[in-house]
Amino acid sequence: MKYDVKNFTIEEKIKLLSGKNNWETNDLDGKLPSVFLADGPHGLRKTNDEQTKCGTVPATAMPSLAVLSSSWDRELCYLNAQTIADDCIENNVDVLLAPGVNIKRSPLCGRNFEYFSEDPYLTSELASSYVDGLQDRGVGTCVKHYCLNNKEYERIYQSSEVEERALREIYLKSFERIVKKAKPLTIMCSYNKVNGVPMTENKWLLKDVLRDEFGFDGLIMSDWCAVKNPYKSAKATLDLEMPARSLSYPILKEAYDRGLITEEEIDFCVQNLFNLIERLENMKEKRKVSFSIKERHENAVKIASESIVLLKNDGVLPIKSGNVLISGNKLNEPAIGGGGSSNVKPRTKVLSLQEELEKQGNIAKLSTVSASISETWSKQVYVVYDKAYESDSVILLITSKMGEDQDRQSIKLAPMIEDFINQVAKNNKKVTVCLFTGSAVDMSAWIDNVSAVIWCGFAGEGVFSALAQILTGKISPSGKLSESYPLSIDDTPTGLNLGDAFVDNYSEGLMVGYRYYDKYNKNVLFPFGYGLSYANFEYSDLNIEKQTGTDYIVKFKIKNTSDIDAKEISQVYVKDVCSSVIRPEKELKGFSKNLIKAGETVEVSILLDKSSFSYYSVPLKSDYVENGWFEILVGSSSKDIKLVGKIKINLPETEQISTEYVKTVDEIYDNYWGNIVFSMPED
Ligand code: GLC
Repeated sequence: MKYDVKNFTIEEKIKLLSGKNNWETNDLDGKLPSVFLADGPHGLRKTNDEQTKCGTVPATAMPSLAVLSSSWDRELCYLNAQTIADDCIENNVDVLLAPGVNIKRSPLCGRNFEYFSEDPYLTSELASSYVDGLQDRGVGTCVKHYCLNNKEYERIYQSSEVEERALREIYLKSFERIVKKAKPLTIMCSYNKVNGVPMTENKWLLKDVLRDEFGFDGLIMSDWCAVKNPYKSAKATLDLEMPARSLSYPILKEAYDRGLITEEEIDFCVQNLFNLIERLENMKEKRKVSFSIKERHENAVKIASESIVLLKNDGVLPIKSGNVLISGNKLNEPAIGGGGSSNVKPRTKVLSLQEELEKQGNIAKLSTVSASISETWSKQVYVVYDKAYESDSVILLITSKMGEDQDRQSIKLAPMIEDFINQVAKNNKKVTVCLFTGSAVDMSAWIDNVSAVIWCGFAGEGVFSALAQILTGKISPSGKLSESYPLSIDDTPTGLNLGDAFVDNYSEGLMVGYRYYDKYNKNVLFPFGYGLSYANFEYSDLNIEKQTGTDYIVKFKIKNTSDIDAKEISQVYVKDVCSSVIRPEKELKGFSKNLIKAGETVEVSILLDKSSFSYYSVPLKSDYVENGWFEILVGSSSKDIKLVGKIKINLPETEQISTEYVKTVDEIYDNYWGNIVFSMPED
């Protein structure tokens, strides 16, 4: 090892348990290299101490993770990360504080735009590619926020109370799979408590589970200002407190002098920092910029164009000609990102939708009116209604911001905005609503009155170029929702409940997102995995080939029956037909995105393995596959199942918990009762 704890004094080692400033690890006055840490998941946010927390160097503003995940495309996630890596390399950033992989338990969570999905399989598949994309270019990653930080309300104090199967199968599963698949260099420990113990002191989750069970051998850092007690955190193997806190050294030194923390415990954490430094040094030759600024912008456009989701279209799209009115709220401040630490200052000028449409041509005449819809009516809206009436079609750009540190109080748009949409729809029968929102929206007040709905999310600097291509049919939309859109917040597992500031009870257990709506037969506005295309697809020829006891190859064909090339996301769900424990109706265990040319057919192959069938057995303390029938469901969404296959898993009895009696029950009772002699007392 290049850096060895034996060569440092205890005082030096204690200093290393906390940062040097807001963004760097301690370098012991040059005795060590500092590691520069910077946000964020949607592009580089590099502030320095002089700048405000939201000040940052200009960088490529990539789509938010909620948008990126709607691409269902591992290669695109890799490209997304490679693009951000270039900005990191140019700005000497060693570790990017990303990706965020918390599960979207409630659509109210203010940071849902920063997370991938409600499903741990989709999250971990895409996030692993994201981690690979950065680390293959010599930039470390920081998978966050470990764990059960699923809302912003009282995130520093509130305890997430969860039973172990939900903990393992839903909330830890993403971290487990990413650690095993992509080996992130660092992990960020979250603010909250889990079952009453602050995550920064939760040795069971930090060491026993994350390190010893999952095999994580990197550095664990705290979320910013999350550490409550520095020596208890170090004892729990939280290696690095961020940011620097002057109080920490004297507390740690006194704790050491009093024997509350040993040198061995300190060495464990310090060695993880040394290992990080050495790993980054060994990755240095990979730190070569590969995209020009222009190419990075083009990547942002490409990724947004393959992630935006078409939710409704009565045929009004694509718009080929005519007098189009573009209006909406916040037209001059497009929501290309969300609020908080993931904020990015785009280096490339974000052109308006009108400018992008004009660049694309083929729409005869464009008129744009910016309607300042806010808490108070402005006369401007009447101009919009008037223009809408005289236009052939209308595109409404509707923004509803969200961000870190605050959850939403509703999943509806503001009443003024809902009314505005309905008023415009009274004046024009071809209204397309484009939503710039961070998470699910209750559209019940207006969706039946409009012709089309496109979810853009917070899609980065390329959003309007991407949207223009989709609106004009230059490309077919191919994104699909990575979270369910409920009809109402009351239909969700948690409703408006965000906990009582002390405890948030995850009483829904495993039934999160589509698992909940399936289990309780609840209708949704748009299901998990849903998204429309300009093309139509036919699924056929399902064939399931057994490889081993639990490995199967699922093959099926998809035909593009339309006259335009398009991409289709197919999904494979697994249903445990008869299980000894409660299980969701079905769970996503495979997906593929394929370009299918007009009129052509592709064959898709998806591998299932033991993890596709297993659940976490609490008594066995491990994942477990129970023999029996399973259904393999191939769908274009979680609700639109196209093909169904059945397989029976029959592992050796020695690998199974007994479910059948070795003898019949009668034999047992016969033997039992048969051996007993009843001696009646003498009369
Ligand atoms: C924030 C966020 C975290 C971010 C860190 C540094 O509070 O929770 O995601 O990386 O602080 O800005």
